[in-house]
Amino acid sequence: MLDPVALNPLEDWLTVERTVVAIVGGGPAGLLLSHLLHGSGIEHVVLEARSREEIEHTHRAGILEASSVQTLVEAGLDRVLRDGERHDGIALRFDGEDHRIDLAGLTGRSVWLYPQTDVFVDLANRREADGAIGDGGVDGGEVRWGATVTRVLDGGAPSGGAPHGGALQDSALQDSALRGTRDLPGVLWTDAQGVEHELRCDLLVGADGSRSTLRHTLPEAQRRTFSHEYPYAWFGVIVEAPRSAPELVYTASEHGFALISQRTETHQRLYFQCEPDEDPDGWSDDQIWAELQRRVAGPDGFRLEEGPIEERSVLRFRSSVVEPVRHGRMLLAGDAAHTVPPTGAKGLNLALADVVVLHDVLETWLARRGGTLRPDDDVLDEYGRRVSERVWRAQHFSAWMSSMLHSHPGETGFAARRRVAELRTLTSSEAGRRFLAEGYTGWGPVLGGPATTAATTSTTTASRGR
Ligand code: PHB
Repeated sequence: MLDPVALNPLEDWLTVERTVVAIVGGGPAGLLLSHLLHGSGIEHVVLEARSREEIEHTHRAGILEASSVQTLVEAGLDRVLRDGERHDGIALRFDGEDHRIDLAGLTGRSVWLYPQTDVFVDLANRREADGAIGDGGVDGGEVRWGATVTRVLDGGAPSGGAPHGGALQDSALQDSALRGTRDLPGVLWTDAQGVEHELRCDLLVGADGSRSTLRHTLPEAQRRTFSHEYPYAWFGVIVEAPRSAPELVYTASEHGFALISQRTETHQRLYFQCEPDEDPDGWSDDQIWAELQRRVAGPDGFRLEEGPIEERSVLRFRSSVVEPVRHGRMLLAGDAAHTVPPTGAKGLNLALADVVVLHDVLETWLARRGGTLRPDDDVLDEYGRRVSERVWRAQHFSAWMSSMLHSHPGETGFAARRRVAELRTLTSSEAGRRFLAEGYTGWGPVLGGPATTAATTSTTTASRGR
């Protein structure tokens, strides 16, 4: 457990804790980073506002690229290989006919149907088994649920400016772990009982999702947000029914897009394009089934297997990228840094790829700092440089798939027929099918070289009893 640090006498109503890496957000990105840091012996704390149960009951996309599966397996999380389902292809359906894209045959890579919830459960179970969750946690990493960040502290000043080491040099930190704790970046957070705490760290990571608190602490003058709004959304349902198709089917129809995805032998995940402000409760089950059936109907007589609708929700579409992803000693990862629309299921894959690079860069930064006693924040910029290419490729892919498959409100007959022509050109050319398959299965191992110094690091806890 982390030792509380003694207090600035003027502010001694708060116990200040000190750690090396503070991670805000305990979704898959935050927990994977926690797991990797634990493996490297780097002390850290994860603060997650929601409870574990709440996250487990949030349905998110279910497709993992081969490199994401590799990341999980290499991290010792191999349930995906047993309980996940390898898919070697997908179908694009238009004009009422299926056109299979042989992912494995075209690229040598498959994807795995393994919902985000399962990735989260695997990581949470592993962190728990490693002693990180529970009463106080252990040295080397803690995960705290129900921990809401109320304020980001930038080190030295209560707000504004970069979360950096402040006026204090790291060498001074080595002299006295306590002195200067309040010159470090950190957060104020409130626990599930409403008690306020202060946590200070060397590095602060925002893995706190698309509504990130940490992202908003990037000064506006330096922050650039590149974003795109879409005039449609997805109506998603979980249904109790047998499978309607063995692989995913992305359907473009004159009534709009629909996606057939799977979950288990008894439960399926289906989506259909809707208005962004659609009220999911305004639809009866019969209306939902009628809408889905008419979108997938075709001369082949295909029909979906029907059953009770157990859950329903509307998924908003948005593409966005924030740059830079580092400000001082604060770094953003996953949805906090970029969001993609759900078409192509890139969001979780991007988040996992970010974290692999971030872990490598943090290790390097900490090792260098340990050696020179001088912060070398340029090393931290390698993170943004190395993840950017994948992020933008995924942005292109998701936006392209979305616009090709969805009908646009007020779309002209010309535009609708042009989209079908694009789908036909793509699926009838091997080069076209391969282009789609390469994007869908991802772009191989995490792009970009490793940070220049691979290293492990030992860490210290600033502590002094009260
Ligand atoms: C899902 O199964 O939830 C899913 C699959 C593929 C997508 C989006 C969502 O492109």
